[in-house]
Amino acid sequence: MNMWLSIFALLVFSKIQLHVHGNPQVPCYFIFGDSLVDNGNNNQLQTKAKVNYLPYGVDYPSGPTGRFSNGRTTADFLAEFLGFDHHIPPFTTARGSDILEGVNYASGSAGIRNETGQHLGVHVSLDGQLKNHRATISRIFRILGKNVSTSGYLKRCLYSVGMGSNDYINNYFLTKYSSKRLYSPKNYAKVLIQQYSQQIKRLYSYGARKVVVFGVGIIGCTPNANSLHGKKGSLCVDKMNHAVRRFNTELKSLINQLNADHSDAKFIYINAYRMASMNVSSFGFKVWDVGCCPVGKYGQCDPDQQENICKNRSEYLFWDSFHPTEIVNNILAARAYKAFEKFDTYPTDISHLAKI
Ligand SMILES: *[C@@H]1O[C@H](CO)[C@@H](O)[C@H](O)[C@H]1NC(C)=O
Ligand SMILES: *[C@@H]1O[C@H](CO)[C@@H](O)[C@H](O)[C@H]1NC(C)=O
Ligand SMILES: *[C@@H]1O[C@H](CO)[C@@H](O)[C@H](O)[C@H]1NC(C)=O
Ligand SMILES: *[C@@H]1O[C@H](CO)[C@@H](O)[C@H](O)[C@H]1NC(C)=O
Repeated sequence: MNMWLSIFALLVFSKIQLHVHGNPQVPCYFIFGDSLVDNGNNNQLQTKAKVNYLPYGVDYPSGPTGRFSNGRTTADFLAEFLGFDHHIPPFTTARGSDILEGVNYASGSAGIRNETGQHLGVHVSLDGQLKNHRATISRIFRILGKNVSTSGYLKRCLYSVGMGSNDYINNYFLTKYSSKRLYSPKNYAKVLIQQYSQQIKRLYSYGARKVVVFGVGIIGCTPNANSLHGKKGSLCVDKMNHAVRRFNTELKSLINQLNADHSDAKFIYINAYRMASMNVSSFGFKVWDVGCCPVGKYGQCDPDQQENICKNRSEYLFWDSFHPTEIVNNILAARAYKAFEKFDTYPTDISHLAKI
């Protein structure tokens, strides 16, 4: 079992060292998503879904930034593997020519559907994130000037999109929302994918040609799911995992369809669900049913209990009641970048996509 860990350690650290001083493999990296990759976009918004306070960021070089983890997110690790010497800045604070290397639009509690997560307050849904991207493109056009082709530039960038978790956690499985009364799990997956398809095509129409789409993880196994819905004798909340598997199956078909319809672009699928179904104890994890930090009402770390967080974060799968620890983000990003098993990515991995 230690062999697995050292293989990952090798994979991860050699990549960081290889590219730290070189040019990035792509000129720019744009990130769309939810709290799994938000790095500060919610900090100034009226919402319960913001975490710019300790103990969040306890293992991040500049402390709490709004990242929903103890340290780096998968987007941060991917930026490192791609050879960027910095993490991609949030849309809310990215200034000047910084945006030429990419922008992070992700917003905690956001979903594919506009109404998702609204009970927590204001956020930027995927539609809003795409609108912000359009504003970024106008700024890039002005910076590059008329002699450089903006579309020629944008098509060389990498784009990652990870949405859908909140459309289940903070919509379908909460009685406050009407989705569950309106749709069976099967039909809900279909309407979500229909809307997601339009959104990804919009991203394509804005010039994206290298697109990474993350599937939804095993949301039925989070400490929050277990305390809210009950495990009923299983290890996880099965109804949540079943619903998400339907979504992921449809999403993989959508990726096939997008590749078939757009021969000048490449779309890939990251099987986050399968990766997270790994035998966690064989990765050295010792705790997977509770998070590392004591949490408050919304499942986020309690700011008044900083001194009571777990000591060894690499033994915990979860940081708070929803979000993985930095080490889990590291493993997911490493496998998305360079597939470790055949099922990790489809039809290819990010290291290959970047080279195209
Ligand atoms: C999303 O919903 C909010 C609140 O209902 C509304 O103000 C906004 O215009 C909607 N956005 C889109 C893109 O539909
Ligand atoms: C843009 O290209 C034109 C034609 O080649 C040239 O005359 C002009 O100086 C260029 N402008 C800039 C800002 O490079
Ligand atoms: C998971 O890994 C642990 C440690 O390597 C091992 O003892 C256990 O049998 C494994 N469980 C399964 C279901 O493979
Ligand atoms: C933390 O936990 C990991 C996994 O069990 C272990 O390999 C490592 O030695 C621990 N580190 C410390 C400082 O205890």
